This record gives sequence, structure tokens and C-alpha cells, in this order.
Amino acid sequence: MTRRQFGASSASALALGPFLRTEYSAAGSVADQPLHQVRPPFRVIIDTDPGVDDAFALLLAMRSPELKIEGITAVAGNVPLEVGLPNALRMVEIASRADIPVAAGAKSPLLRRLVTAVYAHGDNGLAGAVFPEPKIRPTGEHAADFIQRTVRRYPGEVTLITIGPVTNVAGALNSDPELAGMVRNLVMMGGSLSGGNITPAAEFNIYVDPEAARVVFHSGMPITMVGLDVTRKTALTAEHLKALEAGQNAVSQAAAAIARKAIEQHRQGGFPSGPNMHDPLAIAAFLRPSLLKWEDYYVDIETAGELTAGETVGYRSRTGQAAAIEIRGSAPTLARSESPSTLRDRVRPNTKVAMDVDSPSFFDLLIGRLSGKQ
Ligand code: BDR
Ligand code: CA
Repeated sequence: MTRRQFGASSASALALGPFLRTEYSAAGSVADQPLHQVRPPFRVIIDTDPGVDDAFALLLAMRSPELKIEGITAVAGNVPLEVGLPNALRMVEIASRADIPVAAGAKSPLLRRLVTAVYAHGDNGLAGAVFPEPKIRPTGEHAADFIQRTVRRYPGEVTLITIGPVTNVAGALNSDPELAGMVRNLVMMGGSLSGGNITPAAEFNIYVDPEAARVVFHSGMPITMVGLDVTRKTALTAEHLKALEAGQNAVSQAAAAIARKAIEQHRQGGFPSGPNMHDPLAIAAFLRPSLLKWEDYYVDIETAGELTAGETVGYRSRTGQAAAIEIRGSAPTLARSESPSTLRDRVRPNTKVAMDVDSPSFFDLLIGRLSGKQ
């Protein structure tokens, strides 16, 4: 979709549902929030499993003056924690942001064995691009404790941006459920309402730890979901690489080195385009919500399905009445005597879901900031 088409369809969508009539602020939530309530810099914690696109997301965030990054927390996902944590530290060093604490988190999902994505990100998580061992060290605190302490320190102010499995956030919520009411928003790269990537049903971050995702979606905290519905539309190209190579700074050069390898690896794998910039889009969605189109859903996570575990199931009310959504369970078996069940009644949307993106403008922001042009 071109910029012009995106603007036009955005404008027509504005005339439709009530969810789009309210302005969505960067610090926003499913509930309407006046823009003047909070001004930048916005306090954020970024939870990550670096990862090629995580590396881009971290660099974009660290080059964004609107953000006060309280910390970066690492989690096992794309690569084991022993690989992802040093990658996070490397990015902090490259961006000269040693002021940002980095905390190590969960080495494995809540209940499952870790499934990695080294097939996509390479054994070193950075598509084979090599950077020196980081000199800076992680804080001694566990990521879940760091999240809990920081959210409690600034109640109502901290947005969690998660770009990996949400094991660390679920850990924090499990030990301190009241946190859900203190988080300003959770902006997640994860999920999909239009099919998965690691299975036909599930997106990778949710697939890896569906039980953790369920804790988060049931917690009551306002959630913003930037899933495959939009991140599939963000393919990195040779032109983007060229622009990064031309950037005269360490961040641009590091991003170019990763991009070069990742594009090469992608082509060798038989993919004509990409890789997709899933995680940077979650950062961009927080910085510039108007780059995307949003709809409100009640989202829950399938954890029991043999073929569908990790699926994000989205419900919208047919009438547009937020309070009237009924969640129907699966049909009863012959062994069960009771009549078909309404699992939950009159649930309210818990998630703002990104449905479309102005991809050229997103890349202007991403490449502009990494290369130092913006
Ligand atoms: C997500 O999975 C990971 O491989 C990426 O880093 C991104 O967070 C996309 O499904
Ligand atoms: Ca990731």
C-alpha cells in the first residue's frame, strides 16, 4: 500500500468504528487518554531476545529522544539467553548508551522447553555479523524483579515494550499481580489475527511461551499488539541497506553489517524479500501510532491446542458495543452432560491491535534514525 492509499483508507476508517474516533497517544492505552497527560520523554522498559530485528529495534529506541529507556531486559527466545544477553549489551555499547541498565531474565519459558529461531537469526543471533565481546556488564538483578521494581517506582508511567516471548513480564505479574494496574501500557511485537509464522496458527513470540502470554492477556493491563498482520509488510531491502552503509556513525554501520548478512542469508534461504523488521515496528508504533491503523479486540491465547498452541484469538463485537462480547468455548463432547458453554460473557476489549501500516513512512523513520538523518 502506498502512503497516499494508506492515508485515504485511514481517513475512511476514521468514519467507522468508535475505536478509531479516539486519538491513540504514544503513551496510550485501550482506554482513551488525553494526549496532554504525559509528555515525552516516555519511560519504557524494552524486553528482548536479540535477534536480528531486535537489534534494529534496540538501536532505533536508543536513537529516539522521545524515550527514557529505564532498562533493557533480556529473555530466551530467538537464541538462548547466553547468546541474546551479550547481544543486548553489544547494542547498548554500539549506541554509546552505557547509562541504560541491562538485566538478564528467564532462560526458559514458564512451562515449556525453549524453542529458538536460530534458523532465522543464525547461531549468534545477528545473522553471523560479528561484534566484539561487550565490556559492559548486566545489572545483578533478575529481569522480572527489575520490571517489578521499576513499574512500582513510577506507577502509571512505565510502558513495557516486549519484542520477545513475554516470560519476564509474566514472571513479574505472577509475583506481583497489582503491577497490571500500574503499567501504563504494554506494547507487544507478537501474535497475529491472520495466521502464524512458526505454525499456521501461532506467531513465534507467543508460540515460545503461550502460558506467559496468557498471564499477560488475562492481567488486565492495557495491551497494544503489533503482530504479523502488520509486521509482515515491513521487508528490509537492498536500498535500505545502501542508506545504512552511507550513514557515518557507529549505529548505522553496525545496522548495515547485520542487514547485509541477514539479507544474504534470507536470499540463500530462498526468500525473495526481507527479512521483516517485526520488532522495530513495535518501537515505531509507540513513537508514531499514526503510522498504523488500529482496532480494539478481546484477545486470548490458545494454550491447549495440539496444533494451535500460541494462537492469538481475537474477538470483536458485531454490534460495536465493547461490553457485549461473548466468548463461546468448543462444543461439548458426548462425555460432557452440560449444555454448550459460554466461557465468558460481556468481556471488554483488552487489546488495541494494529491492522495496517504505512510501511514507507515506517522505514523513513527507522532508516532515518539509524543512519543519523533524522
Ligand atoms: C518475532 O519472532 C522473532 O523471531 C523476531 O525477533 C520477532 O520478535 C516475529 O515473529
Ligand atoms: Ca524478537
